[in-house]
Amino acid sequence: MKNICVLVSGGGTNLQALIDAEKRGEIKNGRITCVISSKADAYALKRAAENGIKTRVLARKEYDDTVSYSMAMLDILNEEKAGLVVYAGFMTILDKCVCRAYPNKMLNVHPALIPSFCGKGFYGLKVHEAVLEKGVKLTGATVHFVNEVCDGGPIILQEAIPVFNDDTPESLQKRVMEQCEHKLLPKAVSLFCEDRIEVRGNITIIVR
Ligand code: GAR
Repeated sequence: MKNICVLVSGGGTNLQALIDAEKRGEIKNGRITCVISSKADAYALKRAAENGIKTRVLARKEYDDTVSYSMAMLDILNEEKAGLVVYAGFMTILDKCVCRAYPNKMLNVHPALIPSFCGKGFYGLKVHEAVLEKGVKLTGATVHFVNEVCDGGPIILQEAIPVFNDDTPESLQKRVMEQCEHKLLPKAVSLFCEDRIEVRGNITIIVR
């Protein structure tokens, strides 16, 4: 059974999707054992506590730089014996020392079809604003492994939805979350926990 540590910064709807999937028995070989927030007031912490999941706060603003914050995060992940680390709306970039300690053991959900609308500066609503500005007709979500390149690790799952003429960043965010992210993230976590994701270079293959 893998210990799943979920990293959050905000509302935590993706965390909720994971909790619900675990309750339905859809995550076979994993258990959410700890939720770690970069912000003390993240609503995600409430969701975790309501479901009896251990919470920890590692406030980004209490650290001067990325490296010292990342080293503190690494200590926590090691303490929690993390078998899988999930970025679920985690808005802080971690140093390579964390990626190197957990190679192909960290997943991120991104609210667009990577390699479009991703990388530094593309997070939360900003992604959907950029999608609407560009006028693309399809958008969606991507779950990928985290490596040293921001949003650059091997892609695991993607799902697309249409962009409508009357979409606002908020309406698009809501549809991408409900129709893509909240389905893909639990599915990817479940595949990972069952050792069904093979990584060959920058490519993943779902086996069995
Ligand atoms: C989600 O849309 C997630 O994909 C995005 O922030 C939102 C968090 O929502 N993450 C990023 O943009 C990271 N680059 P949540 O807190 O309700 O899960």
